[in-house]
Amino acid sequence: MKQIRFISADEAVRVIQSNDRVHLHSVAVTPHPLIRAMCERGRNKEFRNVRIQHIHTEGCAPYADPEFEGIFQLESFFVGHNVRKQTQAGYADYIPVFLQETQRLIRENYLKVNVAMIQVSVPDKFGYTSLGTSVDATLAAVEHADTVIAIVNPNVPRAFGDAMIHINDIDLFVEDDSELVIAEPGPISDTDRLIGSHVAELVEDGATLQMGIGAIPNAVLSMLGNHKNLGVHSEMFADGILPLVDKGVVNGKNKKIDKGKMVATFLMGSKKLYNFIHDNPGVLMQDVKYTNAVNVIAKNPKVTAINSALQIDITGQVCADSIGTKFYSGVGGQIDFLRGASLSKGGKPIIAMPSVTNKGISKIAPILTPGAGVVSTRANIHWLVTEYGAVNLYGRTLQDRARLIISIAHPNHREELEKAAFERFGPHFHFVSDNPINK
Ligand code: COA
Repeated sequence: MKQIRFISADEAVRVIQSNDRVHLHSVAVTPHPLIRAMCERGRNKEFRNVRIQHIHTEGCAPYADPEFEGIFQLESFFVGHNVRKQTQAGYADYIPVFLQETQRLIRENYLKVNVAMIQVSVPDKFGYTSLGTSVDATLAAVEHADTVIAIVNPNVPRAFGDAMIHINDIDLFVEDDSELVIAEPGPISDTDRLIGSHVAELVEDGATLQMGIGAIPNAVLSMLGNHKNLGVHSEMFADGILPLVDKGVVNGKNKKIDKGKMVATFLMGSKKLYNFIHDNPGVLMQDVKYTNAVNVIAKNPKVTAINSALQIDITGQVCADSIGTKFYSGVGGQIDFLRGASLSKGGKPIIAMPSVTNKGISKIAPILTPGAGVVSTRANIHWLVTEYGAVNLYGRTLQDRARLIISIAHPNHREELEKAAFERFGPHFHFVSDNPINK
């Protein structure tokens, strides 16, 4: 086993050359000391045209700022909050891609990675270290980069699964002991609680859960305390899952693959969550190639995938990545999981969202706003949930869908939506009979 020699972040980032592509480790393990050192070199104009890629980082993202025009070009796989303004203004750019295929872009050399900058746990006596809270496409970058620079940080949890990599796969080492970025769970609003209760009613005992971050997943999880034998196979999970693990509600007993284990590719939450995955053989942090593969997801029974939307039209087209032409997030793993859940025995793909925005705009629209991106098509959507109820659109005609979707729109907007549906579908619209398929 090689001897680790630590160097400074400034020294490590000297490997970056003009025209390189640099992959950044994401979310809670964003390697900030290396980013700062890289930006300092950028400020000194020591290179030009360096492409930066990542899923999404947490904390500040100076490399996306206009001051670095011509020096850094961000090409992210997801538009996170810290690069949203710069992406909307055109300084930063976004690669639309299914989360599952982010690693493929690297492994099949569509995107040649020159330098991977990562953050890992303290190596064990065998030389194994862990990518901790984010494996995502970063394992692919570690495998394919010309140079891998790793910050060794005792705060990075030693997570198992594909997260474990050997120090022989790392070229340059930097020491740091900063805390990881944390996201404490926020309060659950009355609307989120109502949505959570409708979704929770759809979750059956023995289900395998996938859910994103945020108030709605936390509201759902807070209502599953009396469920039995739930499992987790998700792109990510957060603190909301912990009380269910403590109570034995989440035990993975019903899973067909990775029985008894919780599976994810990245995590974002409190220090408690990071401590929970440290040295925990019950959690597998896996390559996104595995977590988000439709055929893998579909192997577990009753996969219940809970995702959200920015806007949905009355036929069931789901926009989740932009507000009109303004990019807000990304395709992410929504389709991976909606499709996987749809193919799983007893699976339930669910889109759950408030009926209106915090400014009172209806999120249900007659047609999508021009420029809005369809992340999930009409054929992908099954269950749609708002605070006004849950409807199943799977197997329903366009006119049935319109009626069902409008039935859970905000009451202030139902009349205008009905008028739009009437104009679109003609005089038959009001006379569509109820169809027992939805029971
Ligand atoms: N029209 C105008 N503005 C809208 C809008 C609409 N139809 N819908 C939402 N907004 C605004 C909100 O007002 C809010 O604005 P603010 O930031 O000023 O408060 C903002 O957009 C975010 O809306 P919100 O409903 O709070 O979004 P969210 O944080 O719940 O995220 C998605 C929703 C769709 C962006 C998120 O789930 C996502 O990124 N999905 C795609 C990826 C995915 O599904 N991955 C799998 C799970 S990890």
